[in-house]
Amino acid sequence: MPDRAAKAKVVKARLDTKKAAPKTAADKGKIEAGPLEKVLDNKITKRTFLKGTLAAGAVVGVSALAAKSPISPLQAVSSYPGVQIASSIVLPTSTPSVDPFAPQNVSLNVNGTNYSVSIEPRAMLANVLRDNLGLIGTKMGCNRMSCGACTVLIDGLAHEACQYPAYRAVGHTILTVEGGVPAQAPGSKVTPDPVVVALQNAWVDNDGGQCAFCGPGMIMAAAQLLKQNPNPTVDEIKATLSGNLCRCGNYLNIIASVQAAATTLGGT
Ligand code: FES
Ligand code: FES
Repeated sequence: MPDRAAKAKVVKARLDTKKAAPKTAADKGKIEAGPLEKVLDNKITKRTFLKGTLAAGAVVGVSALAAKSPISPLQAVSSYPGVQIASSIVLPTSTPSVDPFAPQNVSLNVNGTNYSVSIEPRAMLANVLRDNLGLIGTKMGCNRMSCGACTVLIDGLAHEACQYPAYRAVGHTILTVEGGVPAQAPGSKVTPDPVVVALQNAWVDNDGGQCAFCGPGMIMAAAQLLKQNPNPTVDEIKATLSGNLCRCGNYLNIIASVQAAATTLGGT
């Protein structure tokens, strides 16, 4: 191990070597002068040097753009070193004149009545039913297609309306729990849906609803079943309602309600 004096000697020798090293381009023959040293030798300040460099760069850049003008954004990006743009990408050259997110007027057939309504393209059917048409029988529980509270029939098939774009329902028939109630719109002569009516009555008679929040979704899911299968077994009822949650745990009365509705409609 070298002692402190030996270490100090080594350090001093290194410092002396650094001091002896050439510092500027004035020490010609020891180092080759770089651009900055050449500038300094010509008595030009760093500030003047940088200003001149930037100005020259700007002139070159503008000249290049002018020579290629007009240049598209795609050309500009693809001209960067190392950047490759797939030939299939087409960038818009102008701003669209129509706002794709603006509300549009559409017609929705709900419970046999045609409604004219202005909706945003992103609007979900459950929101349109409740907020635009005032049909608040369709409930919103999770808003994530998990609880089934928002179930409606579209062309006879059960769908969770909370995640069903209203635009997709244009041109199709929508049946909600209000389909069992007459006169939903002023002047409407639409007759109530008999299956939905039977289920609503059975729900009342069999205590199908405890808090009843799940009721509209359960009834509409059961409506699809009874329209396709007038005599469902208990297992078939359970399977049909497996996508609907009842937070009150009222499942036995709900199943009894569906069975009672099936009997009312002529099933056994
Ligand atoms: S609110 Fe639509 S599934 Fe729950
Ligand atoms: S009766 Fe309350 S959630 Fe089903």
